[in-house]
Amino acid sequence: MKTPVLDALKKLMEDKPTSFHVPGHKGRNSLIEWGKLIPQLDITELEGTDNLLDPRGIIKESQDLAAKAFGARASFYGVNGSTGSNYVAMAAITEPGDKVLIQRNSHKSIYNGLILNRLKPVYLYPNYNEKFHLLTGIDPKEVERKLKEDPDIKAVIITNPNYYGICSDIEEITRIVHKYGRLLMVDEAHGAHLVFSDKSAKSALEAGADLVIHSTHKTLPSFTQTSILHVGSHRVDLNKLRDRYSLFTTTSPSYLFTLSNEIATAYMVGEGRERLAKTLDHIQDVIEELKQIPRVSVFTGDDEDKTIHDLDITKILFKIGGLTGSRVDRLLAEKYNIRLEMADYYYCLALSSLMNEKEDFEKLILAIKDIAKNEPYGDLNMVSVNMPNPKIRMDLVDAYYAKKEIIDLKDSIGRISGSFIIPYPPGIPLLAAGEEMTEELYEHIIFLRENNIEIVGLMGYNKDQIVVIE
Ligand SMILES: Cc1ncc(COP(=O)(O)O)c(C=O)c1O
Repeated sequence: MKTPVLDALKKLMEDKPTSFHVPGHKGRNSLIEWGKLIPQLDITELEGTDNLLDPRGIIKESQDLAAKAFGARASFYGVNGSTGSNYVAMAAITEPGDKVLIQRNSHKSIYNGLILNRLKPVYLYPNYNEKFHLLTGIDPKEVERKLKEDPDIKAVIITNPNYYGICSDIEEITRIVHKYGRLLMVDEAHGAHLVFSDKSAKSALEAGADLVIHSTHKTLPSFTQTSILHVGSHRVDLNKLRDRYSLFTTTSPSYLFTLSNEIATAYMVGEGRERLAKTLDHIQDVIEELKQIPRVSVFTGDDEDKTIHDLDITKILFKIGGLTGSRVDRLLAEKYNIRLEMADYYYCLALSSLMNEKEDFEKLILAIKDIAKNEPYGDLNMVSVNMPNPKIRMDLVDAYYAKKEIIDLKDSIGRISGSFIIPYPPGIPLLAAGEEMTEELYEHIIFLRENNIEIVGLMGYNKDQIVVIE
């Protein structure tokens, strides 16, 4: 048989692209040389190797050490990304039919968690910053308003930092949620590194959130698919959590992933902490240098936007005047062999980590300088990329399981969506099952498609069809 995946990955290795995307290890070892060890380390539950689904030996000890390192009450290694850990966390703090307050721009895994756990969402909208064309933070007052308005809400689920590194006032949100006697779960998929530096934005664990989920693979040197679910308070029922953990976890959890979570944490407790401090200092210099380049701007906050409480500067968010983010992203990949995490209409996101070397940043600066100097201005319209608020016509879970049909996208205005329409990046649903396709949403989808933003959920070869409720 041919091996197309192997061939493509080998080619990618030979090309040696500079990585400003996940995984956070950037193709580099930390603490151990993984190379030849991988086949032997990929084992199963044997005498002495413990069991991730019922840890009592070495895995228990390792998870306890991780809890100490992150400042949690208990930590659970995940082998199915933050996706899997989000499912477990949501199940641990709710019962089917419960209402939860979630950020509208939550990742798809939170929406999947709503369906799997049969929950009813109440939405919390982030601020849209018109000046910078960015979805920024959550206003804590809005959290309070929603909790006051609806006493049936059982738990609050926030994403922090967001994909662009923007952090809401997580301490104030925690205070409010606890004042109303509810539980706070924070999807901190993009912030596993935060507790390891005093210079970083505050982690939800430090703020006192009840459950915090980390994609260790995104910002720490850990393999793709690794995550950790941390319990931050005594309000969470650990027995229920363990039960739901085994409901959502494979009975053959990977020892490589389990070990990778341990190695990444151990590295951060030691050498990694210092390396992160140096990287953060260096990123400050990189940002200053980028800001000096004509046409280039880097998002470093907006004093007028009170929903931006802090920034995670490892996510370098920049744009080049007169060019779309997707155009710059493509040029960086094709001409300079630099791969970014994401690009949207305006911005590019270089996702760095402590594992990036100084040379990586130098290459990025040189390439951006070159593009800014030589690339002619394109047609960039000043359009709003705010998410239109859809009309909710049916319960999410009912709509997801309802009878459906596929129709042409152009005929979908007024119809109820039967699936999720999700632009990638950033993987946040524009339209969820049970919501009505409005003219405004339709125009927005066409705009994204014309600007080469991948849209998951549309059907047909040309992505011109959609699933709707019959
Ligand atoms: C905010 C957020 N939460 C959860 C996830 C899912 O994480 P994972 O890919 O580790 O399953 C992502 C992935 O991009 C994300 O951006």
